[in-house]
Amino acid sequence: MKTKITEMFGIQHPIIQGGMHFVGFAEMAAAVSNAGGLGIITGLTQGTPEKLANEIARCKDMTDKPFGVNLTFLPTVNAPDYPGLVKAIIDGGVKAVETAGNNPAQVLPFFKDAGVKVIHKCTSVRHALKAQSIGCDAVSVDGFECGGHPGEDDVPNFILLPRAADELEIPFVSSGGMADGRSLVASLAMGAEGMNMGTRFIATKEAPVHENVKQAIVAASELDTRLVMRPLRNTERVMTNEAVERLLEKEKRLGDDLKFEDIIEEVAGVYPKIMMEGEMDAGAWSCGMVAGLIYDIPTCQELMDRIMKQAEDILARMNAMQAA
Ligand SMILES: Cc1cc2nc3c(=O)[nH]c(=O)nc-3n(C[C@H](O)[C@H](O)[C@H](O)COP(=O)(O)O)c2cc1C
Repeated sequence: MKTKITEMFGIQHPIIQGGMHFVGFAEMAAAVSNAGGLGIITGLTQGTPEKLANEIARCKDMTDKPFGVNLTFLPTVNAPDYPGLVKAIIDGGVKAVETAGNNPAQVLPFFKDAGVKVIHKCTSVRHALKAQSIGCDAVSVDGFECGGHPGEDDVPNFILLPRAADELEIPFVSSGGMADGRSLVASLAMGAEGMNMGTRFIATKEAPVHENVKQAIVAASELDTRLVMRPLRNTERVMTNEAVERLLEKEKRLGDDLKFEDIIEEVAGVYPKIMMEGEMDAGAWSCGMVAGLIYDIPTCQELMDRIMKQAEDILARMNAMQAA
């Protein structure tokens, strides 16, 4: 399948693996890229330019296909060394970057000069238009269903994607709730040039996370995620567990008085414990409603082949309907 996204990133299938904290290591990115998609290393999980450079080099040892790096811009007091991370990406010869969070305008000129394509992840049409106006090459449109931060507008993809198609000139991929060939064809029908998946890629053989995380996703239904941190306007969709129930109880009790310090125990520094040690109640971890559509743990190649086969079958069925 050839789309503006496969052309832009030099990939076989129009499928991207979104950056994921403590999941997007070289093993994950290489497995997705080797299977014909665009794998993404999560820059901030590495934290320093040296470690990121090392992770990029490790990924290059595992694949000769294109892969990207995610740079998430967070509103934090101790900002990471973004200029150093940008340099590590460019010096590492990476040609694709997924930005997310705050406006990436400050880093765009460096990437443009180095011929790096930038896809910015946004949760609203107005942010997508902003990304287009500052010169991003593409956007990833993340609906309310998504794992991680869906923003504060709560617009699901059946509305958000066609709205994006009506407004944007640059290509976009769908993101949030995507799992299979049905998701891909539906995304194309709504104007996207491909799709981005997060949660689905965690439940794969190659995902470098504890087996408990994969099993939790397979066991979960579409009813098992919760929205946390809405009072802080930093809403995150997470898998429900003991820590999340405790966090929501605090939100209810403290109302508008809730401060980040009140929930530090449930959200700060919990990813290594969950993703590496498999302590599933250690805190809140991002997970999409799409968990309800995830029934198994295939290899990335099996997953990708299955998605493309299902998409082709649907398209053939639709063609036959038209011919009949
Ligand atoms: C465990 C996990 C961690 C994530 N971490 C990040 C991150 O660090 N930066 C980012 O831009 N997006 C992050 N995301 C969002 C994904 O890149 C992607 O946009 C999202 O998962 C899409 O929704 P889906 O899970 O329904 O496929 C994360 C998602 C998950 C599930």
